[in-house]
Amino acid sequence: MKLLIVLALLPLCRSAVLPLPQPSRVVNCDDAEAHEAANAAVQYMNSNRKTGYKFALNRIEDIFVHGLAPVEVFTVELDLLETKCPSLSPTPIEQCPVRPVVERAVEGDCDIKLKKDNGTFTVIGIRCKSELDSVENMLKFCPNCQLAPLNDTQVVHAVDVSLHKFNTGNNTAFYLLHEIGRGKIQSGISNSVDVEFVIAASNCSIDDANSGAACVENSGAGAHFGACSGSVVKNQGAADEDVVVQCAVYETQPGNVEQAVVPHVPLAPPQTNVVKSHFHHNLHYSSLGPLSSESNSAEQLAAQGSHAVKRSLTGQSVPPSAPRLHLCPGRKIHY
Ligand SMILES: *[C@@H]1O[C@H](CO)[C@@H](O)[C@H](O)[C@H]1NC(C)=O
Ligand SMILES: *[C@@H]1O[C@H](CO)[C@@H](O)[C@H](O)[C@H]1NC(C)=O
Ligand SMILES: *[C@@H]1O[C@H](CO)[C@@H](O)[C@H](O)[C@H]1NC(C)=O
Ligand SMILES: *[C@@H]1O[C@H](CO)[C@@H](O)[C@H](O)[C@H]1NC(C)=O
Repeated sequence: MKLLIVLALLPLCRSAVLPLPQPSRVVNCDDAEAHEAANAAVQYMNSNRKTGYKFALNRIEDIFVHGLAPVEVFTVELDLLETKCPSLSPTPIEQCPVRPVVERAVEGDCDIKLKKDNGTFTVIGIRCKSELDSVENMLKFCPNCQLAPLNDTQVVHAVDVSLHKFNTGNNTAFYLLHEIGRGKIQSGISNSVDVEFVIAASNCSIDDANSGAACVENSGAGAHFGACSGSVVKNQGAADEDVVVQCAVYETQPGNVEQAVVPHVPLAPPQTNVVKSHFHHNLHYSSLGPLSSESNSAEQLAAQGSHAVKRSLTGQSVPPSAPRLHLCPGRKIHY
């Protein structure tokens, strides 16, 4: 009986996941139009993501167009590379350097649906994931190096002392840790820990903080972020560690960012946004905005688009388009 029900349901499920009909026209992966769609998608993703780093387009893997102008639906598959600009950085993506292979790159992979309406692209659905490049590429250049999980005790310690050094060198605002982005440990005669993290201005002055006031990240118009890199080196046998820190406090600030309420504890403030034990900020776990999973509206628009395939303006069936080679994937932009 159960089997019968399952069998009876099968055709329904099938039709629900049926792929879109034949593409209505061929767009190749390196056509200007494909890059226009990809750039709109990357822009959408970067502006909706508030954790980790921005991603840049590396290659258009595949692209399909359904529907008829003026309203068409584009399905694109993109290969991305993580850049060194934190998501909260105001630097435009075109000016963000991608992370080089020596640092163990992060590759992103996105399936995106866009609507093209009268020449304008709008994202209607997006799904992404990302992963670290193999460790060999890093070890080739730095045999004793390894990336550490973002909650690794050495990483957290290096961030603490780096941020502390930055705060003591600054006689005005007191900055809190917003997010740890990366941690690399190089062991050997000296042990060196390199970290990257994002800081946020708090409502405390340095004096407030020193007298134990509760400090929270400024939000709204007062929100103020910056990016830091710190390096903490301890030579074998040495009592002290050398701390070098460099922070760039952004002049312009991103739009609304969820406030991480961090009670002021002198060292090791807890983090809010990191999926612990991860080595990087995986796209799969970050919110990419309201269309982050294939939403109903995405499906509906896609359905509308495919419906349009079947009819010409006069309401008659359109013959299948003449065969034209579909040239994909496109070329790699970076490596
Ligand atoms: C389509 O775009 C053109 C040029 O951008 C504009 O002049 C026109 O008003 C638009 N049409 C509609 C229906 O939005
Ligand atoms: C102190 O913070 C300001 C921003 O509030 C920043 O521009 C400046 O570089 C910091 N000073 C030091 C010594 O780090
Ligand atoms: C910062 O804001 C928190 C929460 O609103 C408040 O408890 C604290 O007293 C404020 N700190 C200062 C120095 O004003
Ligand atoms: C890091 O987080 C993972 C998962 O939450 C946990 O199992 C691990 O013990 C944490 N490591 C440290 C050093 O806190």
